[in-house]
Amino acid sequence: MATTIALSRTGAKMPIVGFGLWKVTKATCADTVYNAIKAGYRLFDGAGDYGNEKEAGEGLRRAISDGLIKREDVWVTSKIWNTFHAHDHVKALAKHQLELWGIDYFDLFLVHFPISLEYVEPSAKYPPEWWGLDGKVHPANVPMSETWKAMEELVDEGAAKNIGVSNAAGSILLDILRYARIPPQVNQVELHPYLTQEGLINFCKTHGIAITAYSSFGPQSYVELGYKGTPGLLEHDVVNSIAKTQAKTPAQVLLRWAVQQGIAVIPKSNNHDRLLSNKNVLDWTLTEDQFKALSSLNINLRLNNPAELDPRLAIFA
Ligand SMILES: NC(=O)c1ccc[n+]([C@@H]2O[C@H](COP(=O)([O-])OP(=O)(O)OC[C@H]3O[C@@H](n4cnc5c(N)ncnc54)[C@H](OP(=O)(O)O)[C@@H]3O)[C@@H](O)[C@H]2O)c1
Repeated sequence: MATTIALSRTGAKMPIVGFGLWKVTKATCADTVYNAIKAGYRLFDGAGDYGNEKEAGEGLRRAISDGLIKREDVWVTSKIWNTFHAHDHVKALAKHQLELWGIDYFDLFLVHFPISLEYVEPSAKYPPEWWGLDGKVHPANVPMSETWKAMEELVDEGAAKNIGVSNAAGSILLDILRYARIPPQVNQVELHPYLTQEGLINFCKTHGIAITAYSSFGPQSYVELGYKGTPGLLEHDVVNSIAKTQAKTPAQVLLRWAVQQGIAVIPKSNNHDRLLSNKNVLDWTLTEDQFKALSSLNINLRLNNPAELDPRLAIFA
């Protein structure tokens, strides 16, 4: 199958399998990015919020200076954090994030959440996460139209080749589409067999918006954050029996379930063998029955829901 997804506005070819940088530690990030490039990864999914953009950039630039790749061979995605939604903050932070990476454009720049929080001065705390300096959540009244205008200007100025959103439901996407001069090209959302989101997938396809799935392994990524709820997808009998029949790993089965729908994936692993095997999901196919069995595991389990931090942030309500 195709190894890339062509974005509707620019035709830019976004790799369908990339590497996610959330929770990759500063200490290991440069080497992880370098080794992932060596292993064939050509997309890195970063964000200001991940706190490792400088180190990720070091790994990328080392790979370029060692002649492994050229800048144009690699797709770098990053995201603007919630505290920087005001027009001038979007512009300033995007430039700052490019400086951290040591590159002069992002292939894709996303609005991380359709949630605006009060500005936190980067010299006081960076990344600021969800809380002000007083440890409390402070929503701010920046409309998405203001944020989106600044995102479009980043494209005009060449700082971002493509722009998009993340964690966006149909209603906020419809809002953006009403005034967008440059429509969002990608929506990056939580998506796995416990949260299949068929309605959102259809909506995005209809509007020419590509989808990137995050947290493809469901609860696994949240266990290290203390999650103790629904048993993992990687251990699920249905996933394991399909893995056995296909002679693949449970992780590959879950990634294949998404890419077989034309959805990009960005698995993260701090382990080199898992990093290598997660890439191999494009040259085999789930049968229709296997695909349906995976989709039927849906229980609308959302693991990344800001409403759990503060009910005022219930963007998926
Ligand atoms: N836009 C957003 O709001 C948002 C939110 C969450 C994530 N993301 C992006 O999506 C990326 C992926 O999501 P994620 O980090 O939540 O989770 P993920 O890739 O679904 O899962 C990562 C977890 O699975 C483990 N793992 C990786 N490969 C494995 C394998 N082959 N077998 C068994 N376990 C495996 C990892 O442990 P080891 O590291 O020990 O292998 C880690 O605990 C993130 O890194 C980030 O770039 C975006």
